Amino acid sequence: MKASELREKYIQYFVNHGHARIKSASLIPDNDPTVLFTTAGMHPLVPYLMGEKHPLGKRLTNVQKCIRTGDIDEVGDNTHCTFFEMLGNWSLGDYFKEESIKMSYEFLVDELKIDKEKIAISVFEGDEDAPRDEVSAKCWKDLGIAADKIFYLPKKHNWWGPAGLTGPCGPDTEIFIITREEDCCDGCSPACNCGKYVEIWNNVFMEYNKTADGKYEPLKQKNVDTGMGLERMLFTLGGYKSVYEVDVFTPVMKLLDKVVNIDKDTTKEKRIIADHIRTATFMLGDEKGITPSNVDQGYILRRLIRRALRFARQIEISPDTLPEISALYIEIYKDAYPEIGENKEKIIDELKKEIDRFDKTLNRGLAEFEKLKQYIQNNRISGKAAFRLYDTFGFPIEITIELAAESGITVDKEGFDACFKEHQQKSQAGSEQRFKGGLADAGEQTAKLHTATHLLLAALKKVLNDNSIYQRGSNITAERLRFDFNFGRPLTEEEIKEVEEQVNSVIKQNLKVTCSEMSVEKAREEGAEGAFGDRYGEVVKVYSIGNFSKEICGGPHATNTKDLGTFKITKEQSSSAGVRRIRAVLE
Ligand code: ALA
Repeated sequence: MKASELREKYIQYFVNHGHARIKSASLIPDNDPTVLFTTAGMHPLVPYLMGEKHPLGKRLTNVQKCIRTGDIDEVGDNTHCTFFEMLGNWSLGDYFKEESIKMSYEFLVDELKIDKEKIAISVFEGDEDAPRDEVSAKCWKDLGIAADKIFYLPKKHNWWGPAGLTGPCGPDTEIFIITREEDCCDGCSPACNCGKYVEIWNNVFMEYNKTADGKYEPLKQKNVDTGMGLERMLFTLGGYKSVYEVDVFTPVMKLLDKVVNIDKDTTKEKRIIADHIRTATFMLGDEKGITPSNVDQGYILRRLIRRALRFARQIEISPDTLPEISALYIEIYKDAYPEIGENKEKIIDELKKEIDRFDKTLNRGLAEFEKLKQYIQNNRISGKAAFRLYDTFGFPIEITIELAAESGITVDKEGFDACFKEHQQKSQAGSEQRFKGGLADAGEQTAKLHTATHLLLAALKKVLNDNSIYQRGSNITAERLRFDFNFGRPLTEEEIKEVEEQVNSVIKQNLKVTCSEMSVEKAREEGAEGAFGDRYGEVVKVYSIGNFSKEICGGPHATNTKDLGTFKITKEQSSSAGVRRIRAVLE
């Protein structure tokens, strides 16, 4: 079966059963600073699982693009990928275990024609947080699944969520395909990972909220959250040896087979390249437009592209093949994910730029690495040497560690971190830790700088006469603001001056800063700035500063612009490709 067929079959089945189809959300989560990427279909739905009303109703279904980089070292085997599509259906306080299980069974057996004898199930065995799930087990038995194919497993296996550190979660029942007769051992079960049972679908019964202190409290409503990995399912249905035989990969694998011309097994390298370039393509083409950088999502993107390039060089294929692969993916996915088609130029362009950047130093870095190996002591690369590879040759530390491991040596990661920190402090970036700043410090001065940030965005749009400018990042301390926005070139001195003047003239007008709560739709109608994403129906705060600025924002803010003082831009520089960074103070 083809990917497009399975997507449509799944959605159609759930639409026929009263579910509304929703769009895949961005790969960058809106409201969860504890994770970098959307890892499951439920992630963008957290507010609704917590009890907020969804405008499209209580039954939803979609295909969600997801990224999980935790298993990046496993990529190259038969099943692991850093990007995947998740088919999902949700009940937001509507149906629960019985109906969910029945629909899953029907979809697999009646729609996909899977032999019911090949299905095995696991359910939660119970502990102090939630009872043994006899209800689910009975549902499966009533549908004709034999008792010896239903396994009771502990939390480690049969509990899902939260996606970040806190949020909705609960016991689950997982569905497996039995791939062979023989057991691997006496107590062979889906828990032993021997390959007999391949997991294809997970139905989570989200009735708990995990709090910051690790407790599970009951949610307002009982939800169902299910997830089926598209590639994994197609791989199982097709009886393939690896996921790379699924149709979304075949043109890419064919191209790689054609260009690789060396006399050794290159399966693993080719798969890594195919996986990483696919993920990079989706990151670059995302509606929130990530580009390679040295922090957060941009850093993961950088690592993936650089790692793909290293493996490309290792199996002697031209770096030009990587954008070619990306172009193939764009064709493959543009119908299912229109943003990939719309951002085609940007994807290829950014990919080429990043490849060029690293290709310039890769060979010299590798030569440096070989030299290093001769001089190291105790089979260990010092933090300083690893930092030099990073700083001078652009080697992400993970690549250095991987290269070292290939030669049976280790890297002093703590030493590297220490050098990194020292360097950061030198460049005065030390205090800007990833999730700090921003709104964490809610003092008076940060509130003022926060208001100044809104004025800055509005002024930039006016002065640069570009309405597509939006906030790409913000970090505020008591001393200064830092603001990232999308713009393709440095600002001229005149423009900088003009932005300052605009902001200061608004400040002098003694404008009130007002806050009102409204639905996302209303905020959008009123032309407010901010991430709308997939938050239909959500109530948000909108801060207005006279008629000059209107933004969705959590606050807090100054109450009147007259308190702000004088706004001054201290620096304007590049943050990453296509993103400018402004630092400013209030004097
Ligand atoms: N959220 C569940 C999972 O990712 C369905 O497995």
